[in-house]
Amino acid sequence: METQAEKQTVSGLELFFQTMLQEIYWCELHLRDVLENMEERASTEELKSAFRNHRAETNDHVARLEKIFYLKGMGAQPLFCVGMQGLFDEGWQVIDETEEGSAHRDSALIVAAQKVEHYEIATYGSLSTLAKTLGLHQASELLEQTLAEEKNADSTLTQVAEKGVNSEASVEPASEEQLPLPDTGAISTESDPAIEAMKEATTGMDAGAGSKSTRDGTEASAPGSADALLMDDSGQPKGKKRSSRKKANA
Ligand SMILES: [Fe+2]
Ligand SMILES: [Fe+2]
Repeated sequence: METQAEKQTVSGLELFFQTMLQEIYWCELHLRDVLENMEERASTEELKSAFRNHRAETNDHVARLEKIFYLKGMGAQPLFCVGMQGLFDEGWQVIDETEEGSAHRDSALIVAAQKVEHYEIATYGSLSTLAKTLGLHQASELLEQTLAEEKNADSTLTQVAEKGVNSEASVEPASEEQLPLPDTGAISTESDPAIEAMKEATTGMDAGAGSKSTRDGTEASAPGSADALLMDDSGQPKGKKRSSRKKANA
């Protein structure tokens, strides 16, 4: 059984680092399939090969993470990543909303893939910094290798977009379904039914669950609702303080 002294040798930061590793491991495992799907749906050989090459690199990303788990004496356990799942959902939406074989779809696939790359760049950059702080220098080197490949994948996609895909898409006529509904001139406000529906949908999410007022058991609007995101730790609406300070100074 673990002694109290042994328990204290693991910092919160170390546990945070481990969780981030497990989440990006989940992402990389799924990205192999996602990149294969993107390759299938891209219409030019250049874009297909960008996705294919990065898929091969992604296998290395998985292997490097497994090496880091091994170095830390941990089993390689993926952990669901809500942020990346959102980007995957967005990618599927792009495929649904664009026409097969169109430059518009290629352009949108590039945007979706670059959002993923930027998420990975932020994650690997942060993980490498944390690894250095935690004295895990070999892990940091492995994370830096992957970070360089993510950055390279991102700039390759920019080059493909700039070389022709985007300009080709810019002269493709929009299909009937893509045309926006006529603008009625109505102003969207907080009372807009779409905003109300969004608030309804986000109620119960974890947002704000760690806020001071929630921990204290005091009322902070509905904890976890969209409203909670607009409250500060004292339960005051964000942005109100400045105007009251202004008043006090007046
Ligand atoms: Fe990756
Ligand atoms: Fe990547």
